[in-house]
Amino acid sequence: MCGIMGYIGYRQAQPILLNGLRKLEYRGYDSAGIAVCNGQGITVRKKQGRIEALEQQVASQPLLGTVGIGHTRWATHGKPSDDNSHPHTDQSGAFTVVHNGIIENYLDIRQELIEEGVAFASETDTEVIAHLLAKWYDNDLVAAVKKVAGIIRGAYALAVMCEYEPDKLVVIRYASPLIIGIGAGEKYIGSDIPAILEHTRDVYVLEDGDLAVLTKDSVTLLDVDTSRPVQRELVRIEWDKEQAEKDGFDHYMLKEIHEQPHALRHTMTGRIDEAGGMVVLPELRIRPDELRQVEKIYIVACGTAYHAGLIGKHVFEHLAHIPVEVDVASEFRYRKPLYTPGTLTIVVSQSGETADTLAALREAKRNGSRVLAITNVVGSTIAREADEVMTTNAGPEIAVASTKAYTSQLLAFYLLGIYFAQGKGTIDDQERATLLQALAQLPDQVEAILSHADKLRQFADAIKEEQQLFFIGRGLDHAVCLEGSLKLKEISYIHSEAYAAGELKHGTLALIEEGTRVIALSTQADLHEKMVNNITEVKARGAVVLGIALDDNVELHRSVDDVCLIPGTLPLFTPILSVIPLQLISYYTAAALGNDVDRPRNLAKSVTVE
Ligand code: G6P
Repeated sequence: MCGIMGYIGYRQAQPILLNGLRKLEYRGYDSAGIAVCNGQGITVRKKQGRIEALEQQVASQPLLGTVGIGHTRWATHGKPSDDNSHPHTDQSGAFTVVHNGIIENYLDIRQELIEEGVAFASETDTEVIAHLLAKWYDNDLVAAVKKVAGIIRGAYALAVMCEYEPDKLVVIRYASPLIIGIGAGEKYIGSDIPAILEHTRDVYVLEDGDLAVLTKDSVTLLDVDTSRPVQRELVRIEWDKEQAEKDGFDHYMLKEIHEQPHALRHTMTGRIDEAGGMVVLPELRIRPDELRQVEKIYIVACGTAYHAGLIGKHVFEHLAHIPVEVDVASEFRYRKPLYTPGTLTIVVSQSGETADTLAALREAKRNGSRVLAITNVVGSTIAREADEVMTTNAGPEIAVASTKAYTSQLLAFYLLGIYFAQGKGTIDDQERATLLQALAQLPDQVEAILSHADKLRQFADAIKEEQQLFFIGRGLDHAVCLEGSLKLKEISYIHSEAYAAGELKHGTLALIEEGTRVIALSTQADLHEKMVNNITEVKARGAVVLGIALDDNVELHRSVDDVCLIPGTLPLFTPILSVIPLQLISYYTAAALGNDVDRPRNLAKSVTVE
C-alpha cells in the first residue's frame, strides 16, 4: 500500500502535491517523492523517511511547474531508501511514474531489459514501467501506457508523466484504488479522497481497467483493453475531513477490518504460480535441501502475532509434518530452548520493532538458528536482522488492535506451510491444488461475512453491559478464541477468557452461571460432536450461547441460543473466516460503549520496551 497524488492545472504543483501526500501518509511513510514538469523538462526529488524530510529537501529550491506527481511509499520490493523511493524514471529522465501495488512479473521484465542494456537505479518492481514506457513510446503517451499495461501483471494504480507531452497526465487502475478530482482549470489524482478534499469534492472513482487522460481542462476515460470510452459517475463527496481520512468509517479499526479482503489479495499476489499451481516465494533464500533438513520450528511472537503463530503450528505440523513449538517472546528468551542444527525459528511481528520479539530473534541467532521473520514492515529492525523475510503486505495498520495484520499473518503461514510441504513432498499435486483453490476463495469469503456485519452489531449491543464473557473452542477454534478474547479485552475493557472447550470442566465451569455469555466456535467437523457436548455443559448451567460455525452446519442452532454462520472452507483455513465475526463483535461493543477504539487505554501499537 502506498499513496499517489497528482496535479495538473494553473497553480504551482509542489505545495499541492506535498499537502496531498501528508494526507496519504497513513498509506505508507517510509519514503516520499515528487516530480514536477515545466516546459523545460521533469525534475524529481525523493527522500527516505517521513514527508517532512522531503519538504526540507525542496524548501530551499522549490520545483517549479504546474504539472506533477507524488508518492508516499510503503516498501514491498526493495528496502526504504532514496533510490527505491518513487517517482521512478527511465534512463533519459523523460518518463516518470508513481505506482501503488505490486508488479508480479517484474523480475522477468527486468532481466529482459538488462539484457537489452538498460541500467536500473533501484530494486523496485516499479522501475520496469518507466523503462518500458521509454522503450515503447512512439510520439503517443497513451498508446505507450496501453502497451505497457499489456506487458505488466499484478495489482496497480499508476500515474505517468512525460516530458514530450507536458500538458497531460495518464493514469491507470487495476486492483489498487485511484480517484480523479475535478476543479475548474485544474485536475487532481489521489489514492484516496483526503488527498484532494481541500481542493474539490467532485470525483471520479476509477474502476479496474480504467485509463484516464487528464489535462487541466478535461478528463477522458477509456477502457484500457478495448480503448473504448467509459462513463463513470461524478460523485459528490459530503464527508468531513476526519471521516475522509478514515475512508468514511468511524474508526481506523473498522476501516482496517473492511480492508481485509484487499489485504489478503495483496499478501497472495505474486506468490502462487498459476501455471504450475505451486506456491512461489522468491524472497526466501533457503535452498530446497536446507528446507528439507528443518526438523523443528519455534514460532515466537507477542500479542496478536503470537495468536497467528498458534495457527502456524497447526499448519506446519499438518502440511509439512514438522513439529512446532509456539512461544510468547518474553518467555522464550529466558526458557533456554533446545536448538539443534535443524531448528528454524520463525518470528512474527506486524511492526517488526517489538522489543521482546527482536530480543528472541537475536537469542535464536546467537544459538545458531536460522531465523525467518513474518512482518508487515519492510526495512524494520526485525526484517533487517532476520536471515529470511516474508512480508505480509497488508498496508499500514493504524488502530492499536490488530485485525488485517493478523489475517495476513495467517495467510503467510498457509503459503509458507504449503511451500515447505511441496518442498518436502508431504502433500501430493491433488492436495496442493485443493489447498490453493480454497486459499484463492478466502478474500471473497471474508467480504461475504463483512456484508452481514449488522447481525453482529446487534449482538454487541446485547453484551455491552456484561462484566465477563467466555470464548470456547477446540483445536484451531481455540486458537481463534484466544484472539477474539484479546480483541474484546483490548478495546471494550470487558473481561473475557478463551478456554479450550474440553478443559472447562476442570475448574472454570464454576464461573458459569445464569445468563453468562458464551461464544462457542465450532468450525471443525471432526470435533463438532465434542463441541456440542461442551456447549450443553455450559447451557445446563444457564449460559447464553452464540455459536459460530460453517454454513453447512445445520445442527448447531439446536444447541445454542443464536448462530452466526460463515462460508465453508477447508478445516485448516477456517481461522481466517471465523475471526472476522469476533473482530466485529469487539469493535461494535467498544464503539457502543463510546470507548476510544483506535487508541485503547494503557496500550501502544508498537511496544519497543521489554
Ligand atoms: C502490541 C500491540 C498488539 C500487537 C503486539 C505485537 O501489544 O498492541 O496489537 O499484537 O504489540 O506487535 P507486533 O508489531 O510485534 O506484531
